[in-house]
Amino acid sequence: MIVAVCSLSGAPGVTTLATAIAACWPSSPLTVPVLVEADVSGGDVASWYGIDLNDKGLVSLAVASRTPSPVQASAEVWAEAGVENASSAGARLVNHAVELPGGLRAVPAPADPLESGRAVSMLSHSPGILSSGTAIVDVGRTVPGSAGSALLRHADVVVVLTSPGDVGQANRLKACAPILASLREDGVRVGLAISGACGHGDNEVSQIAAGLPVWARVPHDPTGAALTQGRHHPPHRWRDRVAAWWSQRNDPDDLEWVPLIRTAKGLAELCDDFSGIGLEAPSRHTMAVSAA
Ligand SMILES: Nc1ncnc2c1ncn2[C@@H]1O[C@H](COP(=O)(O)OP(=O)(O)OP(=O)(O)O)[C@@H](O)[C@H]1O
Ligand SMILES: [Mg+2]
Repeated sequence: MIVAVCSLSGAPGVTTLATAIAACWPSSPLTVPVLVEADVSGGDVASWYGIDLNDKGLVSLAVASRTPSPVQASAEVWAEAGVENASSAGARLVNHAVELPGGLRAVPAPADPLESGRAVSMLSHSPGILSSGTAIVDVGRTVPGSAGSALLRHADVVVVLTSPGDVGQANRLKACAPILASLREDGVRVGLAISGACGHGDNEVSQIAAGLPVWARVPHDPTGAALTQGRHHPPHRWRDRVAAWWSQRNDPDDLEWVPLIRTAKGLAELCDDFSGIGLEAPSRHTMAVSAA
């Protein structure tokens, strides 16, 4: 399954949200969620976590995407073939991932936009490797015709993070929404996540966005954002401090008191619910890709 998270302008928190969604992905023995940073403007995850990529990461994934892919098979077929751990079906994607502190697997992009842009372009021409696992893809800021936007056509679910409270972002959303909505003809589920202050109701936003549904309101949560980026910031707001104390008293590992984590978990569950009930578009993954 491929879940793409993107923005249209600004830096509304795509990498943070994609990381949180991957970290909150509903766990099962067959699922190893992998965060893939496919942002043409360069990656942040390796810097956030102080990771040296060595031979892992987006460049290695992009190079591997050019080699012929093994036959795709369901978990039942793997089981029949005697493969006990069916997560090996996603091994090709996982092979290019590093493990972040806390256990999340991530394929970080190089910080250099030239290297990252080349890798995204390669991946957008042969994105099959992404569907060899559960990929939560940070596509960054996408513009029509870009390599990033070409990747969106291959996703099962696209989450567009936008701040329509900002008039510039609202106009950008209005201009791009018809193209995003047209992804649905290819079987892609598309919805909006709203960040920042926005005085408009979900229906109002949906109306300017060619009918795209609002799936989530992402809270302004510096503590949650820092946590997602591998830094600890104790909560400042009184209600967050009480929520943290109460939750950790009952379960020290529970992070649902963190507003961003709670929202990301809801989105992850929604996206996971879509798997297996996707829109009809049998030829989607074989379509020719027209990257810029
Ligand atoms: N929900 C949030 N609440 C508060 N701050 C946030 C939230 N999400 C992200 N941030 C902060 O906003 C800044 C941008 O976040 P992030 O890098 O995730 O955005 P982005 O959309 O991926 O940007 P870019 O397009 O530059 O990659 C960071 O400083 C991050 O800590
Ligand atoms: Mg980013």
